[in-house]
Amino acid sequence: MRIRKAVIPAAGLGTRFLPATKASPKEMLPVVDKPVIQYVMEEAVAAGIEAVLIITGRGKEAIENHFDVSFELEQVLKERGKEAELAIVRDIASMVEVSYTRQREALGLGHAIMCARNWAGGEPFAVFLGDDIVRSATPCIRQMMDVFEQKHATVLGVMDVPREDTRKYGIVAGSPAGERLLAVSDIVEKPKPEDAPSNTAVIGRYILTPAIFEELEKTGRDASGEIQLTNAIRSLLARERVFAYRFAGRRYDTGDRLGFLQATVETALTRPDLKEPFAAYLRRIVGEMG
Ligand code: G1P
Repeated sequence: MRIRKAVIPAAGLGTRFLPATKASPKEMLPVVDKPVIQYVMEEAVAAGIEAVLIITGRGKEAIENHFDVSFELEQVLKERGKEAELAIVRDIASMVEVSYTRQREALGLGHAIMCARNWAGGEPFAVFLGDDIVRSATPCIRQMMDVFEQKHATVLGVMDVPREDTRKYGIVAGSPAGERLLAVSDIVEKPKPEDAPSNTAVIGRYILTPAIFEELEKTGRDASGEIQLTNAIRSLLARERVFAYRFAGRRYDTGDRLGFLQATVETALTRPDLKEPFAAYLRRIVGEMG
């Protein structure tokens, strides 16, 4: 079976990025000139995803407006003959079929995924966390879809992180199962470095099978009151195979201040219109202020 659908949980409060996220969704923070969630959506579209469900919450209306037609803006751009800008604005509204549902309570990532149950309609699906950008030659999720098409099982996007960072991620244990591939034997949410089974961390890309919903239903709240996707994947291990794939690419956690700055600087350095003057500026300013 092919992966056609993707879920983007975007209901999180963005507490790591206050005060910017007090009244604006963290997924709408611009990296150079595009909101973070548009990079995520572009990855989905480039991978061949046909339908996207964004899980939103209160205060996230800007996301819906961004992927909608902007009638007034289009009219003004048309009148002023700004064809290039008009095309940019129009293309965003026609990228892919987008649906929305609201997570009414902030009960964690697992609970957000549960909101997609009916929409997924029994198909396996991709999950993109709305604040992780991955820059890669082949879209990260496409690499994982290729694994899914061979294994017909859950695939987690992973990368190795410094030991001291295990407390920020779901951490997997597993054995080699092919190039870049691990057969997962255990997964733990945010372990302390001394308790972590490895330093291989799950980032914001997943391919999940419909069995995850039954496991999520059985998953209780953790100490912080949240239903963790990681814990549901852990119980899934008793009935289905789960793989972890070391994707080729560079991942940015834009919900973190340093990650956001790295995404901004490195994205600017890949843009033909900015690369040269920006690189020259960086070299000079680091000499002066760094
Ligand atoms: C979530 C997941 C975690 C995963 C991480 C990736 O945590 O719970 O397992 O490793 O995303 O970014 P959060 O970053 O929402 O705290």
